[in-house]
This record gives sequence, C-alpha cells and structure tokens, in this order.
Amino acid sequence: MAFMTANSEGDTASKSTNIVWHKPSVTREEVLSQRNHRSAILWFTGLSGSGKSTLANAVNVALFNKGLSTYVLDGDNIRHGLCKDLGFSDSDREENIRRISEVAKLFLDAGIIVLTAFVSPFRSDRDKARQLVKKGEFIEIFCTADLEICENRDTKGLYEKARKGLIKDFTGISSPYEEPLSPELKIDTGNLDLEKCVDNVINKLRDNGIF
Ligand code: ADX
Repeated sequence: MAFMTANSEGDTASKSTNIVWHKPSVTREEVLSQRNHRSAILWFTGLSGSGKSTLANAVNVALFNKGLSTYVLDGDNIRHGLCKDLGFSDSDREENIRRISEVAKLFLDAGIIVLTAFVSPFRSDRDKARQLVKKGEFIEIFCTADLEICENRDTKGLYEKARKGLIKDFTGISSPYEEPLSPELKIDTGNLDLEKCVDNVINKLRDNGIF
C-alpha cells in the first residue's frame, strides 16, 4: 500500500508534521454501492433571511422521504458548537467556511448528501470549497432573495439592529455579499413559494444523476 503524507493529499499550509495518511478500508464507492444514490454537497448561499435554511431543511425532508441519506449543516446551528469561537470578521467567516467545506467533504466521503446553509459571502471561500471535491459533486445553489426583501422580512430582527449600528459587519449592510457568478442553480427564494423552490432543487439532483 502506498503511504502519502498529509501534504501529498493536497492540503496547503499545515502545522501538523510527521503525520501519515491512513487509507480507509471501506471506500466511498463501496459505501455507495449499498445505497440508491450518489453523494453530493448542496451548497446554499445567499443573504441572511434569503431562505437558505428553510429551503435546505425542506429539501432535506423531501430527500429523507425518498429514503436517501442526508444531513443539513446550518450556519446558525454550527456557530453554536464547532464554530462558536468565530465571529463575523472577514477572516472568521473565511475560517468558518473552510471548516464547513472540510466537514462537508467528510460527509461526501461517507456517502451522504450534505446540505450546507451558510451566508458564505465570499466567492473565493466558496470556490475553495468547490475545489476540494470532484466536478459534479459540488452544487452551488444561490438563494437570490435581494436585500430589500430580506430586510423587509427581517425574520430574526437582525437587519433592524444592523441598521441601528448595533451589529457590526452585517452582510448586505456593513459587510459585502459577493453573488455567485455561475452557480449550478439560482432559486428565486424572494418570490417563489417553498414547494416550487424544493421542486427546482430535486429536479436538479435528478438531472445530475444524484439519485
Ligand atoms: S458566514 O458569513 O460565516 O457564512 P453564517 O452563515 O455562518 O455566516 O452565519 C450567518 C447567520 O448568523 C445569519 O443568518 C444571522 O442569523 C447570524 N448573524 C449574526 N451576526 C451576523 C453578521 N454580522 N452578518 C451576517 N449574519 C450574522
């Protein structure tokens, strides 16, 4: 068996030295041969309040009801645990998305369809997530509800606080959101009803041969 060092696995800067990659004894393909679907990362991105979590969770229900293996990684929830040491500066967001990208890749390896719902405002961070996996395994889904709609909804009351200056670095107000240039899917979460949005995602997965 060929041993690889951590760096030959494609990682960049790593503080760990003297580590050796251990080849898994059950491969992803072997796991997937027991399933009726492929694994994929469904990367939902958009402004706070654009409907990412709502849509990701509704898609999750639809896939679960079909008997598929799925998991949702949600920004607000992950920030209660794995990423609770991070705030909303540019560099903290970058680290947030780096961790989520790596975790999503683990789920992919485990043969699971993982749905990530993070603002993920920076193109470069989303592109790095995409580059971690093979073509076709990363499906970027841009929830396009615009600032006006999200601010009018203000489901969590955060936009009002941000406008008053009570929250700094708030995406769309005092921190940028870089729209995806060529996402696999754009969903008009500002205007379409949830059922229609879910159908669009499910159809895309079917078209891409995920199930
Ligand atoms: S990300 O930019 O690093 O991808 P993430 O998706 O994890 O953000 O978290 C965003 C959620 O945190 C928002 O939906 C909102 O509920 C909350 N939040 C709190 N402060 C901010 C802020 N300054 N900017 C954006 N979202 C914030």
